[in-house]
Amino acid sequence: MVSFHLLGSAALFGALAAAKTCVNVTVPVNINARQAVFDVPAIESNYDATRFSLNFTNQGQNFTNISTTGYQTVRGSYNISAKFCRPDNVTTNPTVQVLSHGIGFDKSYWDLPYNNYNYSYTDVALSHGYCTVAIDRFGIGNSSHGDPLNLIQAPAEVSALYEITMMLRNGSFPTVNETFKKVVHVGHSFGSAQTYLLSAMYPDSTDGVALTGFSMNATWLAQTLAGWNLHIANLNQPLRFGNQTIQRNGFINSYFGASIINIAQVVLSFIGIDLSSYQIWEEIATTEIGDIINGWNATVPPVPQMLPNGYLTWSDFTSNIYAFLYPPYFDIGLGVFSEMTKQPVTLGEIFTLASGAPKKSPFTGPVLVLTGENDNIYCGGNCTATGGSMASIPADVMMSYPNASAFEAYIQPNTGHGINLHYNSTAAFQVIQDWFTNHNLASS
Ligand SMILES: *[C@@H]1O[C@H](CO)[C@@H](O)[C@H](O)[C@H]1NC(C)=O
Ligand SMILES: *[C@@H]1O[C@H](CO)[C@@H](O)[C@H](O)[C@H]1NC(C)=O
Ligand SMILES: *[C@@H]1O[C@H](CO)[C@@H](O)[C@H](O)[C@H]1NC(C)=O
Ligand SMILES: *[C@@H]1O[C@H](CO)[C@@H](O)[C@H](O)[C@H]1NC(C)=O
Ligand SMILES: *[C@@H]1O[C@H](CO)[C@@H](O)[C@H](O)[C@H]1NC(C)=O
Ligand SMILES: *[C@@H]1O[C@H](CO)[C@@H](O)[C@H](O)[C@H]1NC(C)=O
Ligand SMILES: *[C@@H]1O[C@H](CO)[C@@H](O)[C@H](O)[C@H]1NC(C)=O
Ligand SMILES: *[C@@H]1O[C@H](CO)[C@@H](O)[C@H](O)[C@H]1NC(C)=O
Ligand SMILES: *[C@@H]1O[C@H](CO)[C@@H](O)[C@H](O)[C@H]1NC(C)=O
Ligand SMILES: *[C@@H]1O[C@H](CO)[C@@H](O)[C@H](O)[C@H]1NC(C)=O
Ligand SMILES: *[C@@H]1O[C@H](CO)[C@@H](O)[C@H](O)[C@H]1NC(C)=O
Ligand SMILES: *[C@@H]1O[C@H](CO)[C@@H](O)[C@H](O)[C@H]1NC(C)=O
Repeated sequence: MVSFHLLGSAALFGALAAAKTCVNVTVPVNINARQAVFDVPAIESNYDATRFSLNFTNQGQNFTNISTTGYQTVRGSYNISAKFCRPDNVTTNPTVQVLSHGIGFDKSYWDLPYNNYNYSYTDVALSHGYCTVAIDRFGIGNSSHGDPLNLIQAPAEVSALYEITMMLRNGSFPTVNETFKKVVHVGHSFGSAQTYLLSAMYPDSTDGVALTGFSMNATWLAQTLAGWNLHIANLNQPLRFGNQTIQRNGFINSYFGASIINIAQVVLSFIGIDLSSYQIWEEIATTEIGDIINGWNATVPPVPQMLPNGYLTWSDFTSNIYAFLYPPYFDIGLGVFSEMTKQPVTLGEIFTLASGAPKKSPFTGPVLVLTGENDNIYCGGNCTATGGSMASIPADVMMSYPNASAFEAYIQPNTGHGINLHYNSTAAFQVIQDWFTNHNLASS
C-alpha cells in the first residue's frame, strides 16, 4: 500500500457513501504559451454579444482569421483549482486520470453531487482502482481568471494542463506525495480538444487518452453558437458572475425566502395575468429569469466572480438543453442544476475552440473517443448519419492519430453532448474504465 500524505487539516474530506478520499488543492502553475492576438470590438452589452455571434457565424468569412492581428507568448504565475481523489484501497502503483471539463462546466462535472453522487464519474473510476484529478481549466471556476480575449485561450489552458501533468509525474503536485508512473487524460468537449492538443504538443506527457463528447468535425459550430444565444455572463447571472452580493437578513428570509413563485403569482395576477404556480415555475426555470435570480435564495450565497464582459454564457436552460441534453433521457432536475451551476466561456476560447490545433498528433499510445449518439455540437444530433463509409462521425478522430497503438470510437446510445448528465452515464463511465484497463493502463 502506498501512503498518501494529504496535508492541510481542513482540506481533507471523505465523500458521502463512496469509499474515496478527496482533497481540494490550489496548484500554482507557470503558464507559457504561444497564441494568437485577437482584435474585436469591445463587448459592452448583450447587443454586442449578438453582433459577435453574427460575425463569428457569418458564412463566407472566417472571423477567427480576420480578427487575428498577430501572435504572442503569454507567461505568468497563476492558480489552478483541482480536486484529487483516491480510492481507499489504493494499490502500490496507481494510475491517475487527469480530467478536463468542457465549456459550461467546471471540475464538478466529473463528480456531480446531484442525487447523492449518482452521476459521479469519479466514483466509477475509483471503484476501478484509479486515482483522479479534476481541474478547473485555466480561466474558469475557482482557477485564476484573466483577459477573456487574449489570455484565456486554448494554448494557455493546455500549458496549465501540461504543468499539472508533470507535477503528477515528478511528485510535486501539492499535498499528494506520489510519483505517478502512469498518467492518462480524459476530456469532455473543449476539455477533449485540449487533451488532443496536449497529446499533439507533448506526446510523451500522457499514457492514454479518452476524448468524450468529441469529433474533428466543426460543421455544427455555427449552429451551436446560434443555439447558445450568447449573453454577457455578469448580466446573465449577476450574483455568480457579476460583482453583486445579496444582503441576507432575517427580514428578507422571512418575507421572500419562502417562494419567489408565490410573489410573482400575486404580482402578475394583480395586473391581470393569471398563471398557475407550475406555469410560473416553468417561466422562471426555463428562461433568463431563472438565471438572473440564481443564487438569491442559496443557503450559502455565491461568491461573485466579478467577470469582465468578454466572459459570455448561453442565455438560459432551454439553450442548455438544445446544446447539451437529449430529451427525454435526462432528469429535468439535474438539467436545471446544471444551468444554476454553469460556468462561462471566453471570447478567446470561442476563437480557439476549433482552430489553431495541428491536424495530426504524433501520440503513440491508445486513444478512445466516446461521444453521445445524439451529440448536437460534434455530430449535428446524429453521430451515425455520416452519409458515407465511416462508421460514425467521431471515427474521424482516427485520422488525427496515425501512430496510436489502438483506436476506438465508441458511440454511447440515447445521449446528447453533456454525457455525464444523462440517465445512463455510469454505463458510459464503465466503458471508459474497462477500455483503459484493457489497454494495460490500470493501477497495479
Ligand atoms: C471542495 O470544493 C468544493 C467546491 O468546489 C466544495 O463544495 C467542498 O466543500 C470543498 N471541500 C473542502 C473540504 O474544502
Ligand atoms: C461585427 O462586424 C461588424 C461589421 O464588420 C462590425 O461593425 C462590428 O463592430 C462587429 N462587432 C463585433 C462585436 O464583432
Ligand atoms: C479560420 O482561420 C483560422 C486562422 O487563420 C484557421 O486556423 C482556421 O482553420 C480557419 N477556419 C476555417 C474553417 O477555414
Ligand atoms: C488568413 O487566411 C489567409 C488566406 O487563407 C492566410 O493567408 C492568412 O495567413 C490567414 N491569417 C491568419 C492569421 O491565419
Ligand atoms: C494563488 O492562491 C494563493 C492562495 O492559495 C494566493 O496566495 C496567491 O496569491 C494566488 N496566486 C495567484 C497568481 O492568483
Ligand atoms: C477496491 O474496492 C473496490 C470497490 O469496493 C473494488 O471494486 C476493487 O476491486 C478494490 N480494488 C482492490 C485493488 O482491492
Ligand atoms: C514522501 O514519500 C517519500 C517516500 O515514501 C518520503 O521519503 C518523504 O518523506 C515523503 N514526503 C512527505 C512530505 O511526506
Ligand atoms: C461592479 O459592476 C458595476 C457595473 O458593471 C461597475 O460600475 C462597478 O465598478 C463594479 N464594481 C466593482 C467593485 O468591481
Ligand atoms: C430557491 O428557489 C428555487 C426556485 O424557486 C427553489 O427550487 C429552491 O428550493 C429554493 N432554494 C432555497 C434554498 O430556498
Ligand atoms: C441517425 O442516422 C442513422 C443513419 O442515417 C439512422 O439510421 C438513424 O435512425 C438516425 N437516428 C436518429 C435518432 O434519427
Ligand atoms: C462532417 O460530417 C458530415 C456528416 O457526416 C459530413 O457530411 C462532412 O463531410 C463532415 N465534415 C468534415 C470536415 O469531415
Ligand atoms: C447504457 O450504456 C451502455 C454502455 O454504452 C449500453 O451498453 C447500454 O445499451 C445503454 N443502455 C441504454 C438503455 O441505452
